[in-house]
Amino acid sequence: STSTKPLRGAFILFEGGDRCGKTTQSESLVKHLHSKGVDAELWKFPDRQTAIGQMINAYLQGKTETDDAAVHLLFSANRWEKRDAMLAALSAGRTLVVDRYAYSGAAFTAAKGVPGLDLAWCKAPDSNLPAPDATIFLSITPEAAAKRGGYGSERYEKEEMQKGVARKFEQLKDATWHSVDASMSVEAVEAEVRRIADAALRSCEDGRPVQYLWL
Ligand code: TMP
Repeated sequence: STSTKPLRGAFILFEGGDRCGKTTQSESLVKHLHSKGVDAELWKFPDRQTAIGQMINAYLQGKTETDDAAVHLLFSANRWEKRDAMLAALSAGRTLVVDRYAYSGAAFTAAKGVPGLDLAWCKAPDSNLPAPDATIFLSITPEAAAKRGGYGSERYEKEEMQKGVARKFEQLKDATWHSVDASMSVEAVEAEVRRIADAALRSCEDGRPVQYLWL
């Protein structure tokens, strides 16, 4: 008997500091993929719907205080609890466009400068999670981001913190990384994003297997 294995979907990740345009661009990419008949879905981390996500949400809104290491592990656990669903979706041929992931996890906690919570410590709990096929890093200076109507009121949405986060992202660049100048027009960023996404989809069509962090 012959069986044809369905092509797997691509894992396309958006990363960047707060107010870099990730939400606009990730939503636009999913619409674009749908218009081309690609089975695609938008995911977002933290996923605030789960029990762990609700703890994270309360922390981000300043309603609870949580130890820095403990909250870091909650963000990681919030990805682990989605791991099986993620792998199942990819192998069923669904492309996942993901708004933030482990790179944000490591960059934000490491930027706090808490003794012991260096980048290596921060990366460890996410090791062996599915890795993105392409990471689209929307690059914008914290000054320019702050001008975009100002940061929101959640924890971390402060210029000093964002500068530290940008430096940590710089250290997390890997082979999946594509830096896009987010200070360009929405349309110019969209064009770059589509080019990167098309290449990622093609690499999966060519048989690229799912990769795992942080190899
Ligand atoms: P959001 O604004 O994209 O919902 O993300 C909420 C905040 O949480 C944002 O400031 C980035 C931060 N964050 C972490 O600190 N660790 C993580 O693992 C993730 C995914 C986000």
